[in-house]
Amino acid sequence: MAATLTNPLRVGLRQERVIPPQCLIVFGASGDLTHRKLIPALFELFLQRRLSSEFAVLGCARRPWSDEIFRQTMAERLQPAIAAHPQSWEQFSQGLFYEPVDLQQPEHLVRLAQRLEQVDRQRATRGERTFYLSVSPAFYGSGARALAGAGLLADRQRSRLVIEKPFGTDYASAQQLNRVVRSCGQENQIFRIDHYLGKETVQNIMVLRFANSIFEPLWNRNHISSVQITAAETVGVEQRASYYEQSGALKDMVQNHLTQMLALTAMEPPGRFEPESIRNEKAKVLQAAHLASPEQPWTCCVRGQYGSGGTAERPMASYRHEPGVDPHSTTETYVAVKLFIDNWRWQGVPFYLRTGKHLAKRLSEVTLTFRDAPVRLFDAAAGGVSANQFVIRIQPNEGATFRFEVKAPGSGMRSRPISMNFSYDDSFGEPSDEGYVRLLADAMLGDPTLFTRSDEVEAAWRLYTPILEGLKQSPDKFPAYPYEAGTWGPAESDELLARDGLLWRRP
Ligand code: BG6
Repeated sequence: MAATLTNPLRVGLRQERVIPPQCLIVFGASGDLTHRKLIPALFELFLQRRLSSEFAVLGCARRPWSDEIFRQTMAERLQPAIAAHPQSWEQFSQGLFYEPVDLQQPEHLVRLAQRLEQVDRQRATRGERTFYLSVSPAFYGSGARALAGAGLLADRQRSRLVIEKPFGTDYASAQQLNRVVRSCGQENQIFRIDHYLGKETVQNIMVLRFANSIFEPLWNRNHISSVQITAAETVGVEQRASYYEQSGALKDMVQNHLTQMLALTAMEPPGRFEPESIRNEKAKVLQAAHLASPEQPWTCCVRGQYGSGGTAERPMASYRHEPGVDPHSTTETYVAVKLFIDNWRWQGVPFYLRTGKHLAKRLSEVTLTFRDAPVRLFDAAAGGVSANQFVIRIQPNEGATFRFEVKAPGSGMRSRPISMNFSYDDSFGEPSDEGYVRLLADAMLGDPTLFTRSDEVEAAWRLYTPILEGLKQSPDKFPAYPYEAGTWGPAESDELLARDGLLWRRP
């Protein structure tokens, strides 16, 4: 929650734009996301004084709650985080309202429209509205249609629609959903969320690349030999089996979060720092990307599934023994893929992406490995010569590390690798805002820079279509190799790199 500015490096940092008066309408208000992410993010914005006093949140779901029950439920679920700011919460919660709504019932939409007008008068929110679909993905299309049908998206300047992930379940369904939402409003009214783009360090990829002159000349196939993008989690599937069983790691993490990191790492510099320039470059690079072997996708994709593991104190059940999981499930909880990007900058450079649940460590990072020095003049001290690497740490311990060779102390002339480290914590001394704080604020401000445009989403799905199709047609070619929970995934994933003479980075 908002901290005071004591570190000189932070002076002047809180200059973010104030969000103009408006009402945020959350569909799925009784669900997890609302109390885990959305209301805390709004409260944080309130504490940072970025929410105008003329704001309202209208929670909508099928439950017959009242405003008071909604406020109380949020207060209970947000404890103890709000305990430090009781008065602020009191003020903030006066802006929370609730309306029972089933988006499939036309008469509910009529009532909703009336309630919104009432809220506008009560809170002076002036018809500025951000609709947030935090409902089951199966209802994104019909939800958008219902809102448009009730005329609630008609004001192109003052109404926006935020759609949670997953946006589609494959290329065809993403195209179809795009057609539906585009028939309901204009592209600049649609905000497709990928919460990774709300992470400070993911945005930092662009700043590192385009605010410095030292990186860009090296950021290409002439100097970089391979790129790894990892999002490793220590948690298992938790209580989400019903969703995850249908999804698996490729759809849950790779198509969206890892592919967004790939796009930011690999894109060309935008002409200007404005939404369409950036999104054009991201879409372009994704359109140039392809699986290393689209005709034989099983050779460039390794799937895994966690077995039991952990320690006596913290045992971990195997995926198939998690509540709600089919005991014969072949859903992957780990996946690694190899891609190439056919453009002038990256031709021939392999990009390896991997993600998994119940892995050895929680970490997300991008690692660029540079080509070897053309001539080796010095012997290596113990440990051997390592290629230069630049690692952008997305989380935790946000920052970046540069690894290079220096002279090992002593009378000889041997080299050894060292790491030069930048850490957000050490430099700025304050944790970054949660991704949702940034994304909600941007959506309410109408700034789409950090949201995925329709062509980006489609390009990202198209990239993995050979795997998704292959899985349907010849599942035997894509076994989910077992791995022990708490390790780095199946050995077959190491082989994917070993074939190219490489290793996954083990932080
Ligand atoms: C979500 C996935 O999008 O991202 C989850 O559905 C995953 O399965 C989560 O755990 C990871 O997000 P973060 O921010 O914890 O890396």
